[in-house]
Amino acid sequence: MGKIHAVITGVGGYVPDYVLNNEELSRMVDTSDEWIMTRVGIKERHILTEEGLGTSYMARKAAKQLLKKTGVDPDTIDALIVTTTTPDYKFPSTASIVLGKLGLKNAFAFDLEAACCGFLYSLDVAATMIESGRYKKIIVIGADKMSSLVDYTDRATCVLFGDGAGAVLVEATEEENVGVQNSFLRTDGIGLPFLHMKAGGSVCPPSHFTVDHRLHYLYQEGRTVFRYAVTSMSNDCALIAERNGLNKDNIRFVVPHQANIRIIEAVAKRLELPMEQVMVNIEHFGNTSAATIPLALWENESKLKKGDNLIFTAFGAGFVHGASYYKWGYDGSTVEQG
Ligand code: ACO
Repeated sequence: MGKIHAVITGVGGYVPDYVLNNEELSRMVDTSDEWIMTRVGIKERHILTEEGLGTSYMARKAAKQLLKKTGVDPDTIDALIVTTTTPDYKFPSTASIVLGKLGLKNAFAFDLEAACCGFLYSLDVAATMIESGRYKKIIVIGADKMSSLVDYTDRATCVLFGDGAGAVLVEATEEENVGVQNSFLRTDGIGLPFLHMKAGGSVCPPSHFTVDHRLHYLYQEGRTVFRYAVTSMSNDCALIAERNGLNKDNIRFVVPHQANIRIIEAVAKRLELPMEQVMVNIEHFGNTSAATIPLALWENESKLKKGDNLIFTAFGAGFVHGASYYKWGYDGSTVEQG
């Protein structure tokens, strides 16, 4: 038997209907379309506004579309990973809720939390599980309802984020030269002061005090995070390119986490790639955290051909960061969009 590789065989996605644009935000806080577009590159984001719906709702929508598009028998799925910073509940896991709604009978499910690097980490975990030979089909979902932890009175953060979910099916194959090829994943562990939510965890459980002092929102020192994000994502991409003989002539697309268009442009510049070879969805989705990369694949699936060289890269709270080299496994233009 040949070596087992892990390959993505389908992509699903979901964003909520409600669109929060810069004009509406300008009426909520002291900001402008001009500031947001030049400093961050976001025009609008999708927000899950329906009461009582959380991350699992979007994750389920994306996964249902994935199941429909791939036609895979749900009973053959071995595992489900949901990567999110905004779980429905502290427990049980969001993955267990999604699994129940999808009716997966022969799978186990767990959440993986790695902030905006969640998809990058989860894909690697799924690939390793598959390469071990023990599992054959794993669904990986990156989903976040960032609006649930954004303070809509803080102009420095509320313009940045959106809600959404992207799902991929990862399968075992003995075919050479497709799937996850190589990865470089790191956690620096120095990021806590710069990007976190102050209350709600075991250090500072919810109380009247934490609510009164607005401690249940995302806190970010943007300038510091920006600096680390540019350096880490650019260096990680350069390293993965050098390790694998990749350059501007043989990379088809870079698929970066979408936090700021200026970070994305810096990564492209480091790899000497024109922006046409960089997947960008920040303008209309904002930063959807763990969902940015699978949503980019979902939107651009029809442009992808078997054998295309892709680099995925991300950076997030922690700090977590990394890049991976992925060889696309099917012709996306032939897929019927569900
Ligand atoms: N509208 C108008 N002015 C604003 C806004 C706004 N929405 N937000 C901030 N400003 C002002 C600030 O008050 C400041 O004014 P001052 O100079 O009078 O004090 C000025 O703009 C500059 O503020 P900076 O914070 O220095 O702006 P910067 O150019 O750094 O952009 C941003 C801020 C967009 C947040 C940027 O720093 C960034 O993208 N950081 C990285 C985000 C990131 O990568 N996050 C990681 C992933 S997120 C996750 O893991 C959950």
